[in-house]
Amino acid sequence: MTIQVQDGPAVQGCTSKTLLESLEQQGVEVHYHCREGFCGACRTKLIEGQVEYATDPLAFIDDDEILPCCCKPLSNLLIRLA
Ligand code: FES
Repeated sequence: MTIQVQDGPAVQGCTSKTLLESLEQQGVEVHYHCREGFCGACRTKLIEGQVEYATDPLAFIDDDEILPCCCKPLSNLLIRLA
């Protein structure tokens, strides 16, 4: 799967890693703190595509936002980093 960062690079995503791990491993810096879906520091706009969460995230997010630290891509994604 391809994770396209708006106005940025495209990286490969996979279902065995969180989105945050895939982005980091391929040199894309994402702001984060807890890495467990609590704090909301990693909130990212999801413009296109679908993700899944192993457990529902606890931090507040808008309908068009995702928490890369605890979701995995289900399709190609277009995201906008804060
Ligand atoms: S880093 Fe805390 S919710 Fe993602």
